[in-house]
Amino acid sequence: MEAVLHPIWNGGCIPLEQEREQWATKIGLILAMAGNAVGLGNFVRFPTQVAQNGGGAFMVPYFIALFFLGIPIMWVEWVAGRYGGKYGHGTLGPAYYLMARESVKPRGALWWGVLAGMLGFALTVLLNSYYLHLIGWSAAYTYFSAAGSYFGHNTGTFFDNYLNNHGEVFLFWGITVVLLAIAVGQGVSKGIERWVKIMMPLLYIFAIILVGYVFAIGSPINPNWSTIDGFKFIWSPNWVYLKQHFATVMLAATGQIFFTLSLGMGIIQNYASYLGPNDDVALSGVATVSLNEFAEVILGGSLAIPIATAYASRIVPANVFAQGKDAALSWIGQHFGLGFSYTSLPNAFIQMGGAGRAFGALWFLLLWFAGFTSAIAMYNYLVALLEEDLNIKRKVGTWIVLGIYFIMGLPVIYIGSYMDQLDSWISFQLTLLALVDIIVAVYLFKPSNFWNELHKGSYIRVPVWYKWITIIIAPILLLIPLVGTFKSFVTGKIGVAPWTAIIVMFIIGAIESYYAIRKKYGEELEKNEVIVKL
Ligand code: TRP
Repeated sequence: MEAVLHPIWNGGCIPLEQEREQWATKIGLILAMAGNAVGLGNFVRFPTQVAQNGGGAFMVPYFIALFFLGIPIMWVEWVAGRYGGKYGHGTLGPAYYLMARESVKPRGALWWGVLAGMLGFALTVLLNSYYLHLIGWSAAYTYFSAAGSYFGHNTGTFFDNYLNNHGEVFLFWGITVVLLAIAVGQGVSKGIERWVKIMMPLLYIFAIILVGYVFAIGSPINPNWSTIDGFKFIWSPNWVYLKQHFATVMLAATGQIFFTLSLGMGIIQNYASYLGPNDDVALSGVATVSLNEFAEVILGGSLAIPIATAYASRIVPANVFAQGKDAALSWIGQHFGLGFSYTSLPNAFIQMGGAGRAFGALWFLLLWFAGFTSAIAMYNYLVALLEEDLNIKRKVGTWIVLGIYFIMGLPVIYIGSYMDQLDSWISFQLTLLALVDIIVAVYLFKPSNFWNELHKGSYIRVPVWYKWITIIIAPILLLIPLVGTFKSFVTGKIGVAPWTAIIVMFIIGAIESYYAIRKKYGEELEKNEVIVKL
């Protein structure tokens, strides 16, 4: 039997945490992490990035980023999360303060905690301001497809009409967010874990059914255009394009790896904070990456793009289509964007006739599931922040978060360029926080501590060269795109409205983490000496 007393003995100076919630089952944890990672990024953003960055040209840096950044940083975040959880923290501010404290005095460590907490908070709120709307659109389009609402209409006009009908937009957004609030309000093991245990297997089943159908399509309209054209576009390396656009493609690939794996935001750490101090992180981290990459490269890669090529003659404007395959493919590449799924793909569903309704509905339901299980993770981050840092009850906190989401989502509806500009900033900020991850959770925490933590309770041993990748190669690969693109942000890539949102969220996030760290570790900071140590 475990002792009932909390394991910390700290001389009675610091109030002890209440018992921390933990994942009930291993499979629940893995599915929750997979649900966190597998999102709209896998089925919408990935094909978009592939298409916009020269198809096969994109895949080379993509795999480089996966092996040199994605996998090591996934481990860093699992380690950091479990470490913070041991002290009762599921948010970045206090957790990163504790790790930085291994190398710098508490008052110096405070600023690393504030920086990490600020970035994590801002990103969660900013990303959700549009991510939740995209999930809401998917809910709406599940219904529109099943009901055949856009069949026989111009799909572009149909989409515009939908977006201009704010009542409808908020209805589907609202259904989604209220369900999220219910799931998160029930807690980690009784809420989130139960929901993902049902949703994730269904998500994979939906995707596999859709991919099966795609393989059966062949050349539905024009013998020159088949799904195979799509696969060729993705899988034949395009060295010429890569050489010409190296920096851009590299940045896009890095950004996509972070986005799809949910890295650089604090969300993986938050889920990992509900582990026990000796639960495996090494194998679980790789399992998360594998489940996500299967859903992205194999499933996500076999849907939107092959469908778009098989139905190219209905998707590409006639005058461009007449110019031949290269012109048509490049049109698809340039027009693949956030709206593509909602405007262009429906043209393919219409062509499928009766089956198109079912196919379309299943596609949008897949997007809804994928987005929902990622949004749960982000929602929980904010609720944990209110719960742990400000002592607000979970049930109350969920409704406060809903209110914040509502307000922050308004500009997405009312300001046209807001969403795209914010999305480009988000890639940058994910990369920035990943660098802070390595600085704090590896360098300041000390590489040997990091390596020991990674192997504490682990089911596998990580080859030692991965340590060197994490310490040396990863930070260099992070700095290149950060330095390379910083200027474009300062010189007006982003408008006033998104900047205002970013800065206000930075300020709130910084104050919140400062306050949270001071509240728990005030005495240490006064004395500037470490007192609480597990
Ligand atoms: N990974 C999710 C997707 O692919 C999105 C997401 C969830 C995310 N949490 C994140 C992206 C944290 C960046 C950081 O859609």
